[in-house]
Amino acid sequence: MKFNTWRILPVLAALVAGLAVASVGSAQTLTGEELYNQRTCFTCHGKDGKTPILPSYPLIAGQNFEYVLQQMKDIKSGARSNANSPSMQGIMHLVNDDEMKLLAEYISKLPR
Ligand code: HEC
Repeated sequence: MKFNTWRILPVLAALVAGLAVASVGSAQTLTGEELYNQRTCFTCHGKDGKTPILPSYPLIAGQNFEYVLQQMKDIKSGARSNANSPSMQGIMHLVNDDEMKLLAEYISKLPR
């Protein structure tokens, strides 16, 4: 069977366009605040970062940038692992390194 290039061309074009949109979509820069609200952080830590849904969950508002960033990385990687870690770990696939930085910046500037 002869392979028809012209027939497949629109399909390829659509695929490439789709990929371009997808990559723009993921590279789209949300602010730390938007990430905090969109990636469900507020559901456990509270909108203000200091009204967690459970008393055993940490207050994070105004915590040092470096510390917050490191804790997120460690929880994501599993380096930090205690009885509470799994609930937080379950959502860490939603954020990459750049987003964790934006989140850490936002959290560290929240009033204590
Ligand atoms: C399902 C509930 C839940 C969600 C959603 C959640 N967290 Fe957490 N988070 C926790 C718990 C529980 C801990 C404590 C985990 C531990 O001790 O290892 C924690 C720990 C943290 C810490 C470390 C605090 C400290 O004092 O060491 C930071 C920072 C943090 N979360 C930020 C976030 C951010 C940012 C998001 C959104 C991307 C988020 N969390 C989403 C439950 C959650």
